Amino acid sequence: MSGDGYEEYEGFDRLVLDRTGQAEAFDAIGDRYDEAFPHKEGQLASGLWMAESLPPGSRVLDVGCGTGVPTARQLSEAGHRVVGVDLSPGMVEVARRQVPDAEFHRADLADLRAGGRFGPGGDRELGEFDGIVAFFSLVMLPRAEIPYALRALRNLLRPGGLLGLSMVEADVDDFAIPFLGHTIRVSGYLREELRQVVSDAGFEITGEETHAYAPASTDVPPEIQLFLHCRRA
Ligand SMILES: C[S@@+](CC[C@H](N)C(=O)[O-])C[C@H]1O[C@@H](n2cnc3c(N)ncnc32)[C@H](O)[C@@H]1O
Repeated sequence: MSGDGYEEYEGFDRLVLDRTGQAEAFDAIGDRYDEAFPHKEGQLASGLWMAESLPPGSRVLDVGCGTGVPTARQLSEAGHRVVGVDLSPGMVEVARRQVPDAEFHRADLADLRAGGRFGPGGDRELGEFDGIVAFFSLVMLPRAEIPYALRALRNLLRPGGLLGLSMVEADVDDFAIPFLGHTIRVSGYLREELRQVVSDAGFEITGEETHAYAPASTDVPPEIQLFLHCRRA
């Protein structure tokens, strides 16, 4: 019990979840996403950490999987059983095509919580995972929702299970930015605050990497990417 009011997820249903435009932007971007964001050294390194830290055949959930490349593919090629979820039907379609050995569902992150469709007790329950990767997907949520989302992910992990999380380092909340010809809303934290939010959600942070990243596209500014390697405490 952390005593911070999140443990029963009771506040979650009172959050107003406005996803307007978020999936549509990624639906429209489709295959171009991989061209705009090449050379993902940081993400590949964190994917490798996850792939090598788990015994072959482990169940791994890729949250906000996008095109499935590089991460779902990397984990699947390492011999893990990968389940990917994404809000954008277009991204799910691309991911299914690019990573045929993995299983993909169109789902909102919020649907993974206890009582949600894909969460514990839901009619499409995904079950328990040995590892979860959430690379640049929690950036798409308002800050008020992120602690709940992290707790929902923790709840899907077996005891001692691993979480690989990446965020862009930025002190912003539900902030509209231009993104490959569309507008999306993003949130972020400075690194100390991110560590705090993740620890408060019941994770032990076992590793951290920082990467400076410049996307190929000119309308997306250079960014500092934070990768946290965590274990369910
Ligand atoms: C910046 S992309 C990252 C994609 C992939 N993880 C990667 O690193 O290449 C964010 C992804 O999160 C998905 N997304 C946005 N909001 C979401 C939500 N509420 N639930 C699930 N996925 C969401 C988007 O559709 C998009 O594919």
